[in-house]
Amino acid sequence: MRKRDIERFLTGDVRDTDSLYELADEADAPAQARMRRNRDGEPAPRTRGRLTEEARARLVQEREAIAVDDAPPQGDRWSSWGDAEEAGPRPHPSWVVTELAAVDTDLGIIKTGKEADVFLVERAMPDSDRSCLMAAKRYRGGDHRLFHRDAGYLEGRRVRATREMRAMQRRSNFGRNLIAQRWAIAEFAALRELWAIGAPVPYPVQRIGTELLLEFIGDADGTAAPRLVQLRPDRDELADLWQQLIEAMVTLARRGHTHGDLSAYNLLVHRGELLLIDLPQVVDIVSNPRGHEFLQRDVHSACAWFVSRGLPGDVADPEVVANLLLREAGLG
Ligand SMILES: Nc1ncnc2c1ncn2[C@@H]1O[C@H](COP(=O)(O)OP(=O)(O)OP(=O)(O)O)[C@@H](O)[C@H]1O
Ligand SMILES: [Mg+2]
Repeated sequence: MRKRDIERFLTGDVRDTDSLYELADEADAPAQARMRRNRDGEPAPRTRGRLTEEARARLVQEREAIAVDDAPPQGDRWSSWGDAEEAGPRPHPSWVVTELAAVDTDLGIIKTGKEADVFLVERAMPDSDRSCLMAAKRYRGGDHRLFHRDAGYLEGRRVRATREMRAMQRRSNFGRNLIAQRWAIAEFAALRELWAIGAPVPYPVQRIGTELLLEFIGDADGTAAPRLVQLRPDRDELADLWQQLIEAMVTLARRGHTHGDLSAYNLLVHRGELLLIDLPQVVDIVSNPRGHEFLQRDVHSACAWFVSRGLPGDVADPEVVANLLLREAGLG
């Protein structure tokens, strides 16, 4: 990046800080490669790319100032409702805060998962009692091993052209993000459809890129509902939860669907009510060539857990349940 670019930015000529940072990253790549070569001997240079540390600090300060100027007086940022690429089915439930003057506040992490991290977010109208809690499921940029493998491949080949290296890295970043976004889109679509037909799933509030905002399942103090696997239900509770699960699976089957990754980890229980979560891979039993296999797997997983907790085997019989679901799907 040229000094001239930075000066133009600081005088307000270039408004888009992201494109400025892209330039900076481009400029950094050869410098980082040089630093790697010098690892064993000389000290690392104090400049990064063509930006001095001083200029970089100023840039960061300016960027923060811009962000602060635009920040709401309370909360972390203005509500992102107006920027949503997709919103939940209408009519939006009354608890969903749709006012654009609302603010969003991150209240911490609920759980980190294999592909996504789930955070607790509050959306509230300042100086009023109107607020709601949401679970923000943020899909990560996917498979980091893929990225390392690409880098290793390049190293082995001793590719000297850093431009090529950067292109590979960019492509793999780009690819990873795309995959994460596809999962987010798939899960939002599944939740929209399932919520609309009355299946017990969290209401999908909105999607932006790789982030879904969902109805938070838990208490008003931010305590998330436990997963089924964490519970030790007594006999009556177990029978009741089983009944709810069968009803939920029937609701899906009537639309030709099965969860696709059903387990006691992907079921939440809130005040006795069972909810299905983690639905990006919902399977169409009819059109998916492995539809039956997925249905059988879901059924076996559900039956095995309930039987392990004491439900009689003739109640949670995989064959009986699978046949019931296939019939409901019009395939029996
Ligand atoms: N709407 C919600 N309300 C409350 N907690 C939630 C909600 N959605 C997800 N969680 C919590 O976050 C965890 C991870 O969510 P989810 O299963 O959708 O993501 P994941 O990336 O597949 O995670 P994992 O790899 O653990 O299966 C859940 O087990 C649950 O504890
Ligand atoms: Mg999960």
